[in-house]
Amino acid sequence: LEAFFQPKLLAGRRVLLTAGPTFERIDAVRGITNSSSGKMGFAVARAAWEAGADVTLIAGETAQPTPPDCRRIDVRSAQDMLAAVERELDGTDIFIAVAAVADYYVLNQSEHKIKKDAHILTLELAPNPDILASVACRDNPPFCVGFAAESENLLEYADAKRRRKQLPLLVANLVQQAMGADDNEVILLDDAGEHRLPRGPKLAVARQLVAHLAGLYAQCGP
Ligand code: CTP
Ligand code: CA
Repeated sequence: LEAFFQPKLLAGRRVLLTAGPTFERIDAVRGITNSSSGKMGFAVARAAWEAGADVTLIAGETAQPTPPDCRRIDVRSAQDMLAAVERELDGTDIFIAVAAVADYYVLNQSEHKIKKDAHILTLELAPNPDILASVACRDNPPFCVGFAAESENLLEYADAKRRRKQLPLLVANLVQQAMGADDNEVILLDDAGEHRLPRGPKLAVARQLVAHLAGLYAQCGP
């Protein structure tokens, strides 16, 4: 019922999100991934829907239920996620990257299950494309929102990330606080400075984030 009373700040807007972890294959049964429950990304998708947006959610492997009326596209690797984002980007007003994207993929992956032996196994890791940076640096990009998960020097690292990726808005959180938890506490960084949101359930934090981004979007949007 609370959803019904949320102001429709994003009515008629198309919002594209990434959420959850990506998974990078090592062989037929193994892989490397990031810790991410998908809770925060799914909460932001829900909050955007409550605000009246038309929502597409590109999700890595997660057990989260799809928020109402959201179009969900399931992906596995960072490269799949990038391909899905590129397919969906046309007509997107706001892009919100919440996914915990693996920074590397395995170069020497094996089609068949690697049999164990007593030797050291070396994985060669090559950098994955940065999905958010690639969207934000296009001509006429959508309004781009990033998340920064840091374990130390939160504001310094997050601010550097915002500038490097040219983002109007970045959400900074400490991994120790956010990971797997139902609550979160974040700091929003934009051109005007820092805005601390009160600690609360991820959906409550997501609603405040959506209200803030809708305000910024209204100032710079068409
Ligand atoms: N991101 C992305 N594609 C990647 C890596 C990150 O879209 N290959 C996005 C994340 O979804 C998040 C933001 O970029 O919105 C920051 O991710 P984060 O992992 O905190 O930063 P990185 O730039 O990857 O730097 P590092 O992991 O070294 O801190
Ligand atoms: Ca990263």
